[in-house]
Amino acid sequence: MRRAVVERTEQEHIGFGKVILFGEHFVVYGAEALVAGIQEYTSCRLELTRGRPGVSVVDERPAVPGYIVEKAEEQRLAHSLVFRHLNIDTTVDGVCIHLGGSLVPSSGIGASASDVVSLSRALSEMYGLGLSEQEVNHSAFVGEGGYHGTPSGVDNTAATFGGLISYRRDDGKAVFSRVSFLRPLFLVVCSTGITASTTKVVGEVRKLKEEKPAWFTALLEHYSACVGEAKAAIENGNMVRLGELMNRNHTLCQELTVSCAELDTIVNFCRENGALGAKMSGTGRGGLVVALAADAAQSDRIADAVRQRCPAAKFVWKYSVFPKESAV
Ligand code: MEV
Repeated sequence: MRRAVVERTEQEHIGFGKVILFGEHFVVYGAEALVAGIQEYTSCRLELTRGRPGVSVVDERPAVPGYIVEKAEEQRLAHSLVFRHLNIDTTVDGVCIHLGGSLVPSSGIGASASDVVSLSRALSEMYGLGLSEQEVNHSAFVGEGGYHGTPSGVDNTAATFGGLISYRRDDGKAVFSRVSFLRPLFLVVCSTGITASTTKVVGEVRKLKEEKPAWFTALLEHYSACVGEAKAAIENGNMVRLGELMNRNHTLCQELTVSCAELDTIVNFCRENGALGAKMSGTGRGGLVVALAADAAQSDRIADAVRQRCPAAKFVWKYSVFPKESAV
């Protein structure tokens, strides 16, 4: 078992939020997903509680109403999976986890992954583990089991590395790389304010797949063609085509039954108000919509219109993703 080497962490330990551009749910079954890490992040600092065993959490993240309470049990499980994975015993001296940062936790934005990424980084400092980035990512993947049941690993990979990433699971192994692109992506992200359980929704999709295997295989094939074209559109800077493909991915999510009335309303509103394309993003059945704008001015206009005239959207954020040079 590991011993703490410091009483409290001194460095800032973060995990990025994320927006899935293509491939939620399909990625669980080996398809490629495209995901953008965003600038907003969760931060974690730790204090050793000498002589007081166990793990406590002071959660100061600026979450949407209801999120922290609804996720508390899954969070407790996720944290305990990370402690166990890193071989850290808290039965004599405990640990108090302080969570904060700029990311507003809401269903779909990768709050759970950014939580366990920032925690893994902080534990690495406190227990002198010297975790590499790959090891942080793996530790967070283990923790995501608490939030997701059977995570694909796409969220923790985006939360660890940031930037625009292509991700898939191949034979249980994570395969990912940075996507090179020329033009920035201007995204408007709208939250329904509805918190969904990823474990539950992923479980229901699995059941559907088992009941109707031919139907599911056909959907997966359609999706694979869609994401192949989407990657090319991003790489070539063809934003109009990218928007059309986001629309197509949303239709596939509807067929998979993971969209809902609120998501469809916001998607349609964004399209009618100038978005090049719009789709649900993340788990679905609540959570987020992501809309693509041609430029920063258009993203301002779409966000303003949503705020003023689309009551199904309870929160609206604008994110831009800029080309990065380094490879993962
Ligand atoms: C959740 O952000 C994305 C899902 O595809 C689940 C996963 O990939 O682990 C729904």
